[in-house]
Amino acid sequence: MKKQLREFLKDTIRQTVDFSATKQNLGYPPPPVQKPLPPGAEVVPLPRREEWKSIGDLSVAEGIARRHSVRKYLPSALSKEELAFLLWATQGVRGEADPVRMFRTVPSAGCRHPFETYLALFRVEGFEKGIYRYLPVEHALLFLGCPPGLEEKASRAALNQPFAGKSAVTFFWTALPERTEWRYSEASVKVIALDAGHVCQNLYLACEVIGAGACAIAAYSQEDADALVGVDSEDEFVLYMASLGKV
Ligand SMILES: Cc1cc2nc3c(=O)[nH]c(=O)nc-3n(C[C@H](O)[C@H](O)[C@H](O)COP(=O)(O)O)c2cc1C
Repeated sequence: MKKQLREFLKDTIRQTVDFSATKQNLGYPPPPVQKPLPPGAEVVPLPRREEWKSIGDLSVAEGIARRHSVRKYLPSALSKEELAFLLWATQGVRGEADPVRMFRTVPSAGCRHPFETYLALFRVEGFEKGIYRYLPVEHALLFLGCPPGLEEKASRAALNQPFAGKSAVTFFWTALPERTEWRYSEASVKVIALDAGHVCQNLYLACEVIGAGACAIAAYSQEDADALVGVDSEDEFVLYMASLGKV
């Protein structure tokens, strides 16, 4: 079993994939770069990079030097600009939004970008508490509702790690494997996991710029996390989480 699971970390599987039979090479259109919006969706636009006034310019070297995991947060709120910056840094669109291949602020194998970003948002100026989904194409947030006891539910989703419910915001990244499988078939699993690391590292670095701290969370309850953000656990499921707040 252990040996079998370790194979996941190798690239041996690539040699077994018949790339002539991938959906891409069979001529199927790629899955959408972003989950479609439900009809009548309530979308809140976020300030764009060229409009930001309060985001400082910490050097990359300083950000890397300072980065560390933070599990205790001040009760202060993030500003809307700060949240917009964190979302842009982790999954934002770089250049023109293209319906087939959209470049973002993070790298992704084959430019497939298999993630959606959900937030358990507790303290951000101008936003009511609740669950939101980031829309990279529109650079906006979609409000999905506010289940009762959101703090407890976020913490329970993180296997009772309390800081996940005491943050200003807790990020939930879901994977939609089909986006990557369209190009890489069975060789997708490892690269999807690799892709997630870049996203979270950018969150850590961006937090340093705004006087916040983050903590990556991979110990979570699959069932509770998927239920909280409202995904089916089959074609879309939570892969990684991170909480953050002012320090
Ligand atoms: C993939 C991954 C999963 C992690 N999961 C958790 C977690 O569930 N809970 C937690 O408190 N910290 C978690 N961490 C944070 C690590 O404990 C932390 O990065 C490590 O102790 C080193 O500390 P540093 O980030 O301050 O350098 C995770 C980090 C990574 C990269």
